[in-house]
Amino acid sequence: MKTIQQESTAKLLDGIKVSAAVIECVRESIEAHVGKGGRRPGLAVVLVGSDPASSIYVRAKRRDCERAGIRAQDFDLDAQTSQDELLALIDRLNDSPDVDGILVQLPLPPHIDEPAVTNRIHADKDVDGFHAFNVGKLALRQPGLRPCTPRGVMALLHFYGIANRSMHAVVVGASNIVGRPMALELLLTGSTVTVSHRFTRNLEEHVRSAELLISAIGKPGIVQSEWIRPGSIVVDVGINRLPSGKIVGDIDFSSAAARAGWISPVPGGVGPMTRAMLMLNTAEATGVGVKMPFKAQPTG
Ligand code: GUN
Repeated sequence: MKTIQQESTAKLLDGIKVSAAVIECVRESIEAHVGKGGRRPGLAVVLVGSDPASSIYVRAKRRDCERAGIRAQDFDLDAQTSQDELLALIDRLNDSPDVDGILVQLPLPPHIDEPAVTNRIHADKDVDGFHAFNVGKLALRQPGLRPCTPRGVMALLHFYGIANRSMHAVVVGASNIVGRPMALELLLTGSTVTVSHRFTRNLEEHVRSAELLISAIGKPGIVQSEWIRPGSIVVDVGINRLPSGKIVGDIDFSSAAARAGWISPVPGGVGPMTRAMLMLNTAEATGVGVKMPFKAQPTG
């Protein structure tokens, strides 16, 4: 019997290409700043323990610092590090004139209270944008340092000239790191936003109505490709490792690409954009002005 091949119709939201363009802009702006006697940005990268996924992400962030011309200072702490020891390190980094940005990789070991840590970082050095002050600023339409993943998603859309204003955007997942600030970014730029989460009834109905679908669940197979609205924009924030070792998103790429108008792959979509935004935030925290390689959508 002849099998019907589903053809991929969606255009690719290529995070590798766009992140490289952003990092190049950051690098040029930093070199111009240093050339005029400015200080080279410094980023403290703090990893507690040796969670394999976190170790991979942190290594990639340190590599991107090199590409962007940012000085990375590494702090690899034992998994048994106490909360007080970690807070004392953050206090020291807050006071250090050589450190412009502080990144503490999450998740932290269970004996450490994450909000106590993220809120201890000085808001001006909070290049992850996780501090309550910076999230509050985003909520009040006065964005300061913005969470990297949602900012990266917006940059990816705007690079391709996708204007989300007035679109119905559906964010699946309501985490502090992605879902919630993602909704705020979309609201800021004039989308009508639905946020779904574990208590949501009828996820299918919401997904079917999405002109812009952002999946940030961290589990494959919950959002089904046949629910995707034909021609819609699909951004997959999930990074999931299958038992085979293969990395996949939340959504099956090839069947989703047969319905969507635009789609981001995993890997190679939002992940590199998140890191590029960390570089951009670090440059901006140092006072380096960076002109982005695309026009941002006006705020709504
Ligand atoms: N863990 C997963 N994503 C992130 C991120 O963007 N920043 C930090 N610090 N930890 C994370």
